Amino acid sequence: MADEMMKWPEWPEYSEHTQKRIEEVFQSNRWAISGYWTGEESMERKFAQAFADFNGVPYCVPTTSGSMALMLALEALGIGEGDEVIVPSLTWIATATAVLNVNALPVFVDVEEDTFCIDPRLIEAAITPRTRAIIPVHLFGSMANMDEINRIARKYGLFVVEDCAQSHGSLWNHQRAGTLGDIGAFSCQQGKVLTAGEGGVIITKDRRLFELLQQLRADSRVYCADSTQLIYGDMQLIAKGDIQGSNFCLSEFQSAILLDQLQELDAKNHIRETNAMYLNRELSKIDGIHVMKRPLQVNKQTYYGYVFRFDPHKFNQMNADQFSEMLRQKLHMGTFYLHPPYLPVHKNPLFCPWTKKRYPESVRKTEEYWRSLHMPVAEQASEQSIVIHHAILLVDPSQLSRIVNAVAEVANESCLMK
Ligand SMILES: Cc1ncc(COP(=O)(O)O)c(C=O)c1O
Repeated sequence: MADEMMKWPEWPEYSEHTQKRIEEVFQSNRWAISGYWTGEESMERKFAQAFADFNGVPYCVPTTSGSMALMLALEALGIGEGDEVIVPSLTWIATATAVLNVNALPVFVDVEEDTFCIDPRLIEAAITPRTRAIIPVHLFGSMANMDEINRIARKYGLFVVEDCAQSHGSLWNHQRAGTLGDIGAFSCQQGKVLTAGEGGVIITKDRRLFELLQQLRADSRVYCADSTQLIYGDMQLIAKGDIQGSNFCLSEFQSAILLDQLQELDAKNHIRETNAMYLNRELSKIDGIHVMKRPLQVNKQTYYGYVFRFDPHKFNQMNADQFSEMLRQKLHMGTFYLHPPYLPVHKNPLFCPWTKKRYPESVRKTEEYWRSLHMPVAEQASEQSIVIHHAILLVDPSQLSRIVNAVAEVANESCLMK
């Protein structure tokens, strides 16, 4: 069959049972947790319980996005103006803007060449008396070195907020991503392995943080302690007011989708991981291609993106834009599915804090300040590697050889171009 005729998997995947869950919400008369008690527990609470159980933690607070999950995590930890938070230089901008959005300063640290996660060897040099927290990001398919990060955090009395936007279900030393630090923050935006189109989730083992997080996302309200006392039409959220909140509540429709999709997460993660291992084996046979390292502590790897690096001198000095364009043409894939990694945050045009008057000058800084930062590994990563979206890892294994063949063809053709 011609390649054009072979379709790659769609993302997100849709099923009849998801639709049934959504219809349940339609008919329930409760479309938001700020709606009234109907005699049934809210979808949001059912999902929160299921996600807490999935991760083996007592507490979970869903929210509107991964960006808000990170921001509320920092607020719950009391981080704000005058504070600094260490973040990796290679990540989606939201990791850094979450810090800015609490008026604190993001301090970038370069990443490891073979995982693209924050390089723990560089963290201590970035710590100052103002540093309050580290946000490791488990990026694409890798996990940050949580043993080292936690060791440093303990030494300096820092909080750790794991950015798990891309890592729902990974295991580090048999513990889920998001349970290794003080708070874990997840995204459920369309591209993610667990998605409701938009959405976010926060998990923690700490009851006090849980109480603050609940209020931060629901206008300083919490669920009432005993819903058996409620009658139809009562409000289930009650005033608390320990901390200034705002409305960042996930809707009942989104919670219903997540509750449904969570059932399949481990099984899909397993398929992606198996197929990623096949790609690792086969792609590493091609001269000039390097696959990512899997540290021994990783027992389960969630792939948001499958990444490989290439040596430009073996590929006629191509950059990642040119390489990915060639691959997309050969595989008939759109840019959602195959692309270079992000630009490092300090070089990303989407990162422009100096344009926002609301930020204090001490964190807003100037364009020159941010753009002149230099993070060599992150900068090289964005020029010399390729990311393939996780949906592609759900194909029948027989189709994966097409990707390997396409990379081999690019290698051969770029030799001929020399
Ligand atoms: C690493 C990382 N952090 C945070 C976010 C923010 O999540 P959201 O888009 O749900 O706000 C994303 C989303 O792309 C992400 O990839």
